[in-house]
Formats: sequence, structure tokens, C-alpha cells
Amino acid sequence: MLKLQIIITSTRPGRVGLPVGQWFAERAQSHGGFKVEVVDLAEINLPFLDEPNHPRLRQYTHQHTKDWSATIDSGDAYVFVMPEYNYGMNAPMKNAIDYLHQEWQHKPVGFVSYGGVSAGTRAVQMAKQVVTTLKMVPLPEAVSIPFVAQFLDDEGRIQPNDVMNTSADALLAELLRYAEALAPLRA
Ligand SMILES: Cc1cc2nc3c(=O)[nH]c(=O)nc-3n(C[C@H](O)[C@H](O)[C@H](O)COP(=O)(O)O)c2cc1C
Repeated sequence: MLKLQIIITSTRPGRVGLPVGQWFAERAQSHGGFKVEVVDLAEINLPFLDEPNHPRLRQYTHQHTKDWSATIDSGDAYVFVMPEYNYGMNAPMKNAIDYLHQEWQHKPVGFVSYGGVSAGTRAVQMAKQVVTTLKMVPLPEAVSIPFVAQFLDDEGRIQPNDVMNTSADALLAELLRYAEALAPLRA
């Protein structure tokens, strides 16, 4: 089974990203097409990029980079669960992407974004420019959650609406098709 990594990019205390990521991970498990792994950048806790060599050389000097490389290398498809900060992606997400190079290549990527009126879509547009440089293949199917707080229940869990569930399923279906189609490029 191909592995889908759901990368929760928000790291701040009280982040909405955690329940959004948990909801999407449950949806991905129900989809059944992938082995699902949640990768939480708050737990990974990478410092700002501190490697002396360009990542394409894979000459990593720090254990945290070697561990991050092994984690991302093992994925066949990614979903970034991402907030919008000041119309862009948040700094931990960009930092985590910048750490690596070949590990990301030739894999499809989807976006589950959230925020206010824009539902994080401005940050997603910014992210597409970055991920294509690393030969990830971003998909147009996406989950875009506007005014995300309205979907949190009293226990801080996401209660999705039909649009969220439908768009999640469409994204998962397309991610699987692309992950399979791109597999020969990763061989
Ligand atoms: C530094 C910062 C910048 C923000 N900028 C935006 C923004 O540009 N657009 C938006 O829709 N929401 C913005 N917000 C509101 C976030 O969408 C909201 O706080 C969301 O919960 C952040 O995700 P998180 O809780 O997972 O960190 C911003 C929040 C923070 C903390």
C-alpha cells in the first residue's frame, strides 16, 4: 500500500491545525486506499535550517535532518494541513520543506487549508510555487475551510460539513491516482 503523509504544519499552542489534521486523517483512513501517517511539525520540532550543504547533496550533518529525511523519504503522497498567516504559508512549513530536496520529488501533494474568509487559499497558491520547484505535483482538488472556528465543537474537534467531506474524498481519490502514476518516476 502506498503511504500518505498528512503533515500538520501549524506548531503554535492551541492551533486549529491539530484537530483539522485529525479529522482529515480519519477521513483518509476511511478512504482505505493509503497507509496513513500523521506527521506533526510541532512534534518534529525542527530548528531553522541549520545544514551547511544544499539539500540536493543529501550530505546532512545533523541527526534531526537525517530523521526528517527518512520520514519524508518514506511517503508516496503528501497532504499539507496548513493555515494562512499574513496571506502566506507559515514559517515552520516553509522551513520543513526547505530542509530536503530529492525526498519530495515526483510525489503528489494536496492541501487542506483553513483561515478566515479566504479559507487559506492565498497561502496554498504561494505553496504551489514552492512545491513545484521540488518536483512535487500539486493537485487542484483541495479542502478549503473558511472561518474554521465555526467547525470546532465544544471539545475542540472538527465537525465537518458536506462540502468538506466531499472535497476530502475527491482529493484522496486523485492523490491515489497520481501516487500510482508517478511511482515509476520514483523507482
Ligand atoms: C500570525 C497570524 C497571521 C494570520 N494571518 C491570517 C491571514 O492572512 N488570513 C487568514 O485567513 N487568517 C489569518 N490568521 C488567522 C488564522 O487563520 C487562524 O488564527 C487560524 O486558527 C490559524 O491556524 P492555527 O490555529 O492552526 O495556527 C492569522 C493568524 C496568525 C496567528
